[in-house]
Order: sequence, then C-alpha cells, then structure tokens
Amino acid sequence: MKVSIIGGAGRVGSAAAYSLVMQGLVDELYLLDIAGERAAGEALDITHALSGLGRDVSVEGGDDYSGIAGSDVVIVTAGVPRKPGMSRLDLRHQNVGIIREIARKVAKACDDALLFVVSNPVDVLTYYAWKESGLGRERVFGLGTLLDTLRLKSMLKKRLGVDYREESYVFGEHGDSMLPVFRLRHNHPRDELLGVFEEVRQGAARVIAWKGATWFAPAVAIARVVEAIGRGGVLPVSTFIEEYGLYLGHLAEISRSGVRRAEFELTEEEARLFQRSAEVVRRAIEDV
Ligand code: 2OP
Repeated sequence: MKVSIIGGAGRVGSAAAYSLVMQGLVDELYLLDIAGERAAGEALDITHALSGLGRDVSVEGGDDYSGIAGSDVVIVTAGVPRKPGMSRLDLRHQNVGIIREIARKVAKACDDALLFVVSNPVDVLTYYAWKESGLGRERVFGLGTLLDTLRLKSMLKKRLGVDYREESYVFGEHGDSMLPVFRLRHNHPRDELLGVFEEVRQGAARVIAWKGATWFAPAVAIARVVEAIGRGGVLPVSTFIEEYGLYLGHLAEISRSGVRRAEFELTEEEARLFQRSAEVVRRAIEDV
C-alpha cells in the first residue's frame, strides 16, 4: 500500500509515518510538506531505521505533489495546530483555506486515492475537503472520534480496569460536543463511566497544556485506520451522515473502496446528543 502524508514534516505527520512503518502497514510512503527539506529529513531518518525494524519500505519526502501519485491513501495532517486555551473550532478560519487548496491538488495528482483528513476542526475540514475535491463522499473521511475512542478505552482500563475489548465509543464531533456510547458487558456505575469520559473529552487540551501538542495517540489512531483500509474494518471515524449532509464521528465500514456509515442503534439520549453535535458542526461549516 502506498500512503502519502501532507504535513508529513509536522509532529503528527512524522509520528504517523513512523507508526505506519513500525507496524508494517505500508510498502511506500511519501511525506509531503511545504517544509520540503524537513520532510526529506524525516523520510531519511525513518529510512535509516528500516534495517533495525527489519522492514523494506520506500520512504521519501519533499514538497512536490507529483510524489503522491499512485497513493492508495492521502492523509492530511497539515494546518495550524491548537494552542493552549483554543478549541478545535477556533482553527476553522485558517485551516479551511489550507484544506481547500490541498483537496484540489490531491484530486489532480491522484484521482484514485482515499482522502483522509486529520487536521482540525476535522469534521468541518472533511466536509470542505469533500466539496472541494469533487471526490465521492465515501472516498473522503476524517479521523474524527476514533482518537477520542482510543483515549476512552485507554482511560477506562487505567481508571476502572475495563478490558480494551469491551465495547465503548465516542461519537459526534471531534470537539467539545462529542458524546460517549457505552455498550459494556459488565456493569459499572454510570457516574464513574461519565467521569472517565469527561476526563477524555478534556484529555487533548490537557496534553496540549503540558507538552504543547498531541502526536503519539493521533499517530496510532491513524495507523489503525490505514490498517482497516488495507484489511477491512469497522471503526468510529468522521463519516458522511446522510440525514445531516455532513461528516461526523460514527461507526463506519472501512475498506480500500471507501468509508461508509455502519448500522448502529443509538439510545434516545445518544441520538439527541448526536443531533446536537451535528448542529454544532453545521453552524461551524456555515460560519467560515
Ligand atoms: C487531539 O485530539 C488536538 O484534535 C487533536 O489530539
């Protein structure tokens, strides 16, 4: 599988590249960045690690869109990142312009790839990437609440000893209006579960306050999606939601042919929160 990362010299982009190579999920990787030399440097650094990892991967980097030709997946991590105290939605005015330009160039350079948006606000940017690229709605998607779902499972285990295989998700906006979806086989007091969810909802902001940005958890979430594209899988990502006409975090079937919303029954309360999240994203899309 060939994967390209636009923003490949950034912290999330380069960590994702390393994660994909470490986990043996790619045959070919191209790191594209406006900081072309830095992208080439990241590629060479990872190339130097290949013998130690026992991997045979072509890793290149630069600032030339011709490098992404033939990609199965183009991942976009480029954009202005959040600073302490900012919400993801605060980034929309700057990052919508960036995603539009990238989407146009990607559609021109490789018309067969899946376009996978990671930059924030991800649900809003995924919508604009879809509109601007002219690609089918199932060919464009975003990382969405997979990242929050991984965080939730990690913290449920750490705080309450819940096994990773237990079913729990975060759906909705990858942002303040996200909602928890618990389908645990074992009983836990609801207020304890909600306490862990609240910790997770604010988890990225805490990491940003402490170390400036998040990159390891996003990188691993990206790797899980690339794995699902290669082998098929069902994960909560930002997928097109027909009734709202926009992208939102929901369980989705993922394969090389694209990403489509999976059947999943929500409780009345979850459905209400999901709709509220859709309204938040709708307003942000309109207010750009
Ligand atoms: C994260 O959740 C900042 O959206 C990014 O890590």
